[in-house]
Amino acid sequence: MSTTPLKVAVTGAAGQIGYSLLFRIASGAIAGDRPVELRLLEIEPALKALEGVVMELDDCAFPNLAGVQIGSDPEQIFDGVNLALLVGARPRGPGMERGDLLSANGAIFTAQGKALNAVAADDVRIGVTGNPANTNALIAATNAPDIPNERFSALTRLDHNRAISQLAAKTGSAVTDIKKITIWGNHSATQYPDIFHAEIAGKNAAEVVNDQAWIADTFIPTVAKRGAAIIDARGASSAASAASATCDAARDWLNGTPAGDWVSMAVVSDGSYGVPEGLVSSFPVTTSGGNWEIVQGLEIDDFSRGKIDASVAELADEKAAVTELGLI
Ligand code: NAD
Ligand code: LMR
Repeated sequence: MSTTPLKVAVTGAAGQIGYSLLFRIASGAIAGDRPVELRLLEIEPALKALEGVVMELDDCAFPNLAGVQIGSDPEQIFDGVNLALLVGARPRGPGMERGDLLSANGAIFTAQGKALNAVAADDVRIGVTGNPANTNALIAATNAPDIPNERFSALTRLDHNRAISQLAAKTGSAVTDIKKITIWGNHSATQYPDIFHAEIAGKNAAEVVNDQAWIADTFIPTVAKRGAAIIDARGASSAASAASATCDAARDWLNGTPAGDWVSMAVVSDGSYGVPEGLVSSFPVTTSGGNWEIVQGLEIDDFSRGKIDASVAELADEKAAVTELGLI
């Protein structure tokens, strides 16, 4: 294990997700026993609150927290970072879809893409949590021409974890028995959580469930609309679960997926499964050595094809909208 600290940037560090995420990262949720150095980006008015969060980080006396730097200048904060977690963006409120945030949040990701391009470490990996996450990742990647596109990913791990949890509850299984769940498409209400290739204790999940109506009318909408249900209940969007998924995604990206399983990540499409090249869409992926590969050869039936196509069409619309806004 390297003893050189992993330099991890987190944007929006004084926000709700930040308040959970920073403590998870500092206690080893991504890098294990490897030391981490936190680089925390906020807008100027939030720096005072962020100072308070840093006091709390200090007060935890985390053994592997090698340093914390805060600031509002992306080029200063991203300098030499190995991992950048782009969380900072406005969340949606009740009644909004995540796509409604495109113009409000898109501009953040042009500036941050440019700054990462200028100063990040050569091995940087960039995970986008801020919504609309897929298209924000596309904006950041497009504005960072010297960083390979495959270094950018948007978070659909929260949806993946939600799908595991719903399926475990339905079948009375342990979450650890559930493998090979896939989230396809956009991190939005059109996403397609697919259990047709998933396994529960080695058996095909759809066959174990044996209830197409539950899959179509309960499971898929519950997972796809879970973010809205949390906003309704909490009056604020998911935060601790989003932080946990952000850690899961980064840890597996850097350290590899376990044999016999895969994870969902939104990555730049190479045309696999008919998803137009260049869209940042969620796929089943395996990772190794900090690189991901889309799982190939899965059979897609007409039901799944229709769902994937609908979500991908939404991503194409979002891309057209940000092109129109001059963000890519
Ligand atoms: P929040 O409003 O509590 O925090 C956002 C923080 O970002 C604020 O502190 C704000 O000052 C900061 N910020 C704004 N512009 C910035 C900039 N240019 N640079 C740096 N920081 C900036 O919001 P939150 O609840 O922490 O959510 C953050 C984002 O994550 C939202 O867009 C939300 O919708 C999204 N989200 C995504 C997922 C997912 O699964 N992909 C899950 C939950 C939330
Ligand atoms: C979520 O999925 O919980 C987040 O993307 C927040 C939201 O707006 O739904």
